[in-house]
Amino acid sequence: MSVLPIRRLGDPVLREPCREVEVFDDLLSRVYEDMLETMYHAPGVGLAAPQIGLSLRFFVYDANDGSGPGAVANPVLSEPAGEQIDEEGCLSIPGLWYLTPRAQGVRLTGRDLQGDPISIDAEDLLARIFQHETDHLDGLLFIDRLSEEDRRRAMAEMRERDLGARPGPPRQGSIG
Ligand code: NI
Repeated sequence: MSVLPIRRLGDPVLREPCREVEVFDDLLSRVYEDMLETMYHAPGVGLAAPQIGLSLRFFVYDANDGSGPGAVANPVLSEPAGEQIDEEGCLSIPGLWYLTPRAQGVRLTGRDLQGDPISIDAEDLLARIFQHETDHLDGLLFIDRLSEEDRRRAMAEMRERDLGARPGPPRQGSIG
């Protein structure tokens, strides 16, 4: 296993819709191991394939809820319920944190590493992770989900960073 570099905002791979996973083989399992190690090292609770430069509908997660890590290929979200508003960050935009609205609960269907169908009803943090990571596979980032005012503030904050300010350290609870 190895820790891979995480692509940052500005890298075009983060803004492209990813292609479906069609082959469930040892290579995908190796990608899974590397992404998991990269996620834990960051640290984060999720990581999507485009964040390591792979334009593939695949992500890994570990919500630290005791159920261990998981991987999902070709995720589809349905049955959004309720709303949660909490601070969210992204490993591809280090140091930026904003209140981000998400559905409180979602159903995720997709495929596991062997290509078998899976279905998970998620709430709270796990639901937030699933929404954040599935967004990545559509070329969307959490800053796209902010209120107009927060989005302007986020853009201004990022411009200041580009002028030489250093990003803050990653915080506990970083999504991916
Ligand atoms: Ni992210």
